[in-house]
Formats: sequence, structure tokens, C-alpha cells
Amino acid sequence: MIKIKINKTKHPKMKPKDEDDIVFGSIFTDHMFIMDYIEGKGWINPRIEEYKDFKISPAALVFHYGQSMFEGMKAYKTEDGRVVLFRPMKNIERANKSNQRLCIPEIPEEDFLEAVKELVKIDEDWIPTKKGSSLYIRPFVIATEPSLNVVPSKEFKFMIILSPVGAYYKEGLNPVKIWIEDEYVRAVRGGIGEAKTGGNYAASMLSQEKAHEAGYSQVLWLDGIEHKYIEEVGAMNIFFKIKGKIITPMLNGSILRGVTRDSVIEVCKDMGLVVEERKISVEELYEAAKDGSLEEVFGSGTAAVISPVGTLKFGSDVFSINNGNIGEVSQKVYDTITGIQKGVVEDKHNWLVEIS
Ligand code: COI
Repeated sequence: MIKIKINKTKHPKMKPKDEDDIVFGSIFTDHMFIMDYIEGKGWINPRIEEYKDFKISPAALVFHYGQSMFEGMKAYKTEDGRVVLFRPMKNIERANKSNQRLCIPEIPEEDFLEAVKELVKIDEDWIPTKKGSSLYIRPFVIATEPSLNVVPSKEFKFMIILSPVGAYYKEGLNPVKIWIEDEYVRAVRGGIGEAKTGGNYAASMLSQEKAHEAGYSQVLWLDGIEHKYIEEVGAMNIFFKIKGKIITPMLNGSILRGVTRDSVIEVCKDMGLVVEERKISVEELYEAAKDGSLEEVFGSGTAAVISPVGTLKFGSDVFSINNGNIGEVSQKVYDTITGIQKGVVEDKHNWLVEIS
């Protein structure tokens, strides 16, 4: 187990007064975790110190060739005052899968969890308590070796920062508008689509900007080979309710293995719903939207939680889903997952890990 050196700030910051006004990811807590990697020495020097800027070489490999990984998880304060994490080991496993794909050294799972717990404990007063809010945890690794050679870095930094957050979308739980992107793609099979790494998100920004200009929140990506099968939305996995069944694209190497996605599948099964993880073509979706059998659409993600989709645009055709209202399943899944996180719904799968 790592021994974390703790050096607390002498200048704690003001905490946000109104949790409803927080723009996602715009405010950071007092402390951060840092651990260095040096080839031959491994992960060394774990420490928690004041959240502040740090020095890095302009030649650091991360700036040039993008060797980096990030994760997103959350800490919650339950109604009875406990501080909990939601399925942290799933994120930690996924982080190491991303690391493997990107030639980043793996981080021992227990050390990763210990770092998250210690940091959250120190900044526990920053956890917002209002419904729908939480403390977003952003662990990440960057390649820090100064080199312009396209080879894996011999030096890295693993850091964790924390940010109190409310809803990811300005719409909150109101349905968002999404368009199906048929020009650009986010990822291809055999590429890095499954890894949580900055490049996938950089690749998504141009389409997202186009979508924003047209009044849409995000884009729905199609597969990179045939442009035929549904993959995921910018910051979320996607679910459809068609003729009573819940359908989500199966994991194929280019779709993110969402922790919330996995939780939604379990919760839907607990509700007695049939869940199909399979390929779903854009034609099948279009037909279902046209004949009225597409009953609900919602996205899932750590940041977004559950985000109902009220409008879906296919080329020049625009469909309203469930008359633009949140569907029954979307609402129930949202209530169940956020209820477990707040400790008011039974945690029958033992998803919560208590910190204090
Ligand atoms: C998350 O849901 O935690 C994510 O990482 C999505 C993010 C890009 C905001």
C-alpha cells in the first residue's frame, strides 16, 4: 500500500455558495494528488498538496503525441451523512485498460483507490449536498518526458483533481436534442475508441460545434467503417426503448465501457425489463422513430448520469421522442441510480464504497 505524503494548504478557498449555479468542471477544490513514474523506479512519491499550477517541459510527450489517460468518477454525501464512491473499482479497472492501450504503465489498483479515498477525505467539505450534485473526481495520467521522438514516455505523472458539480447539461434532467452525425466519425475498430483518452474527445469537438450552432446539445456517433451502426454520444453511452425492450449498442472495442452504462443495464434487468446489447443500425432506429415504436431514448455517463433525449435528428428528418418529455424508464433508472448514490434506495449490488 502506498504511503501518501500530505501537505495541506494554508489558504483554503471559498466554496461555491449556490450549488445550482456551478458550471460543470469549472471549480476545483483545495487539494490534488500527484504521483510520478520514472522508468526503472516505478510509481513513486505519492503526495497530496495544494491544488495549483505546476511546471512541465514544453517538450513533454503529452503535448505532442497525446499520450494520456483520464477517468471520471464521483463522490456523494448520503442523506445520513456518509461519504461514498460509486463502483470505483470499475473505473480503476477501465483506467488500467486505457493505460495498457496507450503504453502507459499500469497503476496498482489498491494504490489508485487509496489515493482517491485520501484526497476525497481531505476535501470532503467540498462535496455538494443538493439533489443531483456531487464531487466529480478526475484522475488522469500524462506523459511528461521531454522528447519529440514518437516512443512511449519514460516518465509520467498520475494526478487526481476534484470538482464540485451539478448537472452536466444546462437542460438538467430535461430532454436534450441530439443529432446523428453522418459525416465525421469518433473512433474505428482497432483504434482507441474504447480507451478514455483526450484524443477521442478532441476528435468529437468539430461535430459538436456544428451541432451546437444548430441548437443541438451533442452528436450521436455512427461506426467508423460502414457509418451504419449506432455507437455512442459525445459524453454518454446511449439507450433506446423500442416496443418495450431496452436496446444499447454492444461493446465492440470502439465504444466506451461506461460504468453508468453497466449500472443502467443491471437496474433495467432488476426492473424486469428485457435488455439487449447488440448492433443497432441507424435504419432500424429511423424506422422505429417513424412508426412510433421508439418510445424512449436516454444517455448514461458519470458526468451526465441519465440524460433523456427529446429530439433526434436524422439528416433532414427531426423526430420528437415521447413528445419531448422524459420517459418512464429514463425517470425510474435516474431515480434508482441517484437514490443508491444518495443512500435512499437499497444498494443491493453493493455498488457503494464508503470513505467515512
Ligand atoms: C464522464 O462522464 O465522467 C466523462 O468522462 C465524460 C466527460 C468527457 C465529461
